[in-house]
Amino acid sequence: TQQWRGVIEEYRPLLDIPADTPAITLGEGGTPLVRSEWLSAVGKADVWLKIEGQNPTGSFKDRGMTTAISVAVHEGAKACVCASTGNTSASMAAYAAKAGLTPIVLVPSGKIAAGKLAQALVHGAQVIQVRGNFDDCLRMSRGLADHYPVALVNSVNPVRLQGQKTASFEIVDRLGDAPDIHLLPVGNAGNISAYWLGYKQYADLGRATRKPVMRAFQAEGAAPLVTGEVFPEPETRATAIRIGNPASWKLATAAAGESGGGFAALSDDQILHAQAELARRDGVFVEPASAAGVAGFLQDLELGTGPTYAGKQVVVTVTGHGLKDTVTALEWFGEVPEVVVDADIDAAAAAAGLV
Ligand code: F0G
Repeated sequence: TQQWRGVIEEYRPLLDIPADTPAITLGEGGTPLVRSEWLSAVGKADVWLKIEGQNPTGSFKDRGMTTAISVAVHEGAKACVCASTGNTSASMAAYAAKAGLTPIVLVPSGKIAAGKLAQALVHGAQVIQVRGNFDDCLRMSRGLADHYPVALVNSVNPVRLQGQKTASFEIVDRLGDAPDIHLLPVGNAGNISAYWLGYKQYADLGRATRKPVMRAFQAEGAAPLVTGEVFPEPETRATAIRIGNPASWKLATAAAGESGGGFAALSDDQILHAQAELARRDGVFVEPASAAGVAGFLQDLELGTGPTYAGKQVVVTVTGHGLKDTVTALEWFGEVPEVVVDADIDAAAAAAGLV
């Protein structure tokens, strides 16, 4: 069989982009859908993980970036700009490098994971650290795109959602129908909006007989979609979703509402606990924000909130790779446990608890 061609060539007729758009691709999409035996047992359900950290730059952002950068090139752009909590900037920098565009990224100073910052820098982005939060950065990148010749590739650019919706297509293609329930983290709310677009399109085309209940989770320190109020000073250790005023607010509430789903908030401890459990029980290492769907599933089961899961097919999107943010992952252990022994088999056996 042929190698996966990236989401534009795999799904081009289903994407609302100009027909002759050249595909700037790194082979994104085609990510694993892996059954979680642990979560299936806990929820008495059939639970699958859509592992988006397997994309080329380690997050789901690559799906929308291939379309956004490809269309920007098609339109003659020379430079591109985005605001980011880290993953969008890493993705944009990589696709811009491939396309020969100049990438400019605006990030909240000191609030993005080191791995993501390294990606943006190494791919050659002009990284501008802003004294402010993501919402300030987004306002600024919109302003830059309004006044200067740079293409805005945040998810307020509808072309981003065209690429991102392909995750829904892949899930239905693999499972044979849409799942009953779909769980995911929400920050700026582009992803939930894109998934819903994809599920609706497949249902309209008759490729799925149903659409899932969309249930989405935020950190309690940055939970505007849960409370209905903007968070002027969002705060969470899940820095990827440290957003107080999501750009796709209306689309996200429509997705939750039309699907019979909704939003709920989680503590940072719940999120970090789910991250560790996912790593230890499923062998899947994700960054903190990416574990919010799993944390939310566990909370719903414990509190009896959300939809009925028993007997249902559930997909949980885990959005980004754990290697993005090793600092937060290691903080979980407090002091990093350090066992140093002489180069001696008996010493290693004793230290490993084998004797
Ligand atoms: N998970 C991860 C790992 C993310 O990086 C993001 C968003 C989300 C979930 C939430 O997705 O914004 O579509 O609701 N990261 C953006 C960024 C904001 O700049 O990388 P969303």
